[in-house]
Amino acid sequence: MARLAGKVAVVFGGARGIGLATVEEFLAEGATVYASDIREPAKRLDAANYSHTIVDATDEDQVGSFVETVLRETRRIDVLFNNVGIHLGKPLVETTLEDFDNIFALNVRAAFLGTRAVLPHMLERRSGSIITTSSNGGVMGRPGDPVYNATKHALVGLTKSIAVAHAAQGIRANTVNPGAIDTDMLRATLASPDEFEAKQHRLVASTPAARVGEAWEVAKAVVFLASDESRFVNGVALPIDGAKAAGAMPGDRYSLDFELGVR
Ligand SMILES: NC(=O)c1ccc[n+]([C@@H]2O[C@H](COP(=O)([O-])OP(=O)(O)OC[C@H]3O[C@@H](n4cnc5c(N)ncnc54)[C@H](O)[C@@H]3O)[C@@H](O)[C@H]2O)c1
Repeated sequence: MARLAGKVAVVFGGARGIGLATVEEFLAEGATVYASDIREPAKRLDAANYSHTIVDATDEDQVGSFVETVLRETRRIDVLFNNVGIHLGKPLVETTLEDFDNIFALNVRAAFLGTRAVLPHMLERRSGSIITTSSNGGVMGRPGDPVYNATKHALVGLTKSIAVAHAAQGIRANTVNPGAIDTDMLRATLASPDEFEAKQHRLVASTPAARVGEAWEVAKAVVFLASDESRFVNGVALPIDGAKAAGAMPGDRYSLDFELGVR
């Protein structure tokens, strides 16, 4: 039996990367998926139980009317996936106030608006799983992107607080905390796409698994958190990062003198 059969899932940030991979996994597991994003999907998905709507997840009215439309059509939302995010790879002293406001206004605001729009309905039904994409930078410090990491820590705080407040009412709230995952975002962060192969070696030196991850590897974890298999898992920040958040590697590992793992 499909693990999400009969469930309705709403996805913010479902056009590409981790979001699109999750939409595909949700569909494969039998869910009805209402995806949204500011852009059209990178890949055409032919499924009767799938739609994609252009929604700016930072716009209160757009988020509200998207969720209202889903509820009018289905009368239920079982799963909310807050996946919208942008990266900011700047040292603190180079970060402008505008950079700071922009990234909080996107990464944190989108998850707040999506959750606030869906939670009353989930509370009414006394059932629902909310999954938000944080980062391993949401559970550990990283030197190159402090304000991005601050937004991702904020998402963990929001999520744990929702879990604690509403667990007894049937609501679950968890984050997935990816490490470096091969998506457009990562490639743009690292360099031009052509330089990715060369530069990823440096990037994964601090990853015990010695490789970057793939979007579907995050999507599989999101499916688990969305499904009833995880019904007693609540308030968790789940690293999907080849053990990077688990601890530091021996110093010689950072010399980059090691073999890359095989995907
Ligand atoms: N790729 C990684 O290495 C990595 C690591 C840790 C966490 N993450 C997080 O994973 C999530 C997905 O990232 P990705 O790597 O798939 O990158 P991505 O850029 O491919 O995906 C982000 C999606 O968010 C959408 N989006 C941006 N602004 C939006 C807005 N205002 N309204 C609606 N949609 C909007 C984009 O169009 C895009 O489809 C992000 O939250 C990111 O911070 C990624």
